Amino acid sequence: MSTTSNGVSWDDRYAGSEFAFGTKPNDFLRECVESTNIASEAIDILCIGDGEGRNGVFLATAGHRVTTVDLSLVGVRKGRDLAKQHGVTVNSLVADLDNYDLENTKWDLVVSIFCHMPPTLRTKVHRNIVSALRPGGSFLREAYRPANVGRGVGGPQNPELCVTLVEIETQFSDFSFVIAREVERYIAEGKFHSGFSATTQVLVRKPH
Ligand SMILES: C[S@@+](CC[C@H](N)C(=O)[O-])C[C@H]1O[C@@H](n2cnc3c(N)ncnc32)[C@H](O)[C@@H]1O
Repeated sequence: MSTTSNGVSWDDRYAGSEFAFGTKPNDFLRECVESTNIASEAIDILCIGDGEGRNGVFLATAGHRVTTVDLSLVGVRKGRDLAKQHGVTVNSLVADLDNYDLENTKWDLVVSIFCHMPPTLRTKVHRNIVSALRPGGSFLREAYRPANVGRGVGGPQNPELCVTLVEIETQFSDFSFVIAREVERYIAEGKFHSGFSATTQVLVRKPH
């Protein structure tokens, strides 16, 4: 399986002992967990493209049943070590989202943080997420948007890999929108995501 996507070799990026995106969770994920009721009791969570595992470990530490999926075995191994350090269990899988079966009505929450994919795959994965969530389940996503390209602060440099709010509104049109915004924010999440950035943040909920 190739571990290159969007022109980045993820195994190479994760090769050192340093964590490319840090070991603390993504800011938007932490904010949603702290300020909404999406994870007020132990739930089943899938983190897609979880890299070196920082977000999965954060959610497992909060008591949730967490599965993570990523292309990179090197990243997944670091995530497993991070989980061990925190004394938590994460079901961390190496898989390509192009083939991975998210199954139907299996998850209470699907998390996608900076998991950028080409448009065709992104649409397919979003469609799978709609089916994979249980009624009342949530999809939480932060992704760079096209305005971020060229800023030198990280994220894909091809606008096609970026995510707009309109796209999410279209692909999740049956869902209710708890948070849906295009933001400008200072990001300090490891050396590859650093600086004043343009992202799309959404928390959407599947109808009962
Ligand atoms: C920018 S990194 C973000 C990692 C992690 N979500 C974080 O915020 O620390 C993007 C991750 O998405 C993963 N990824 C990209 N395309 C993928 C695919 N088709 N299947 C599985 N993982 C993928 C990469 O391997 C990489 O680890």
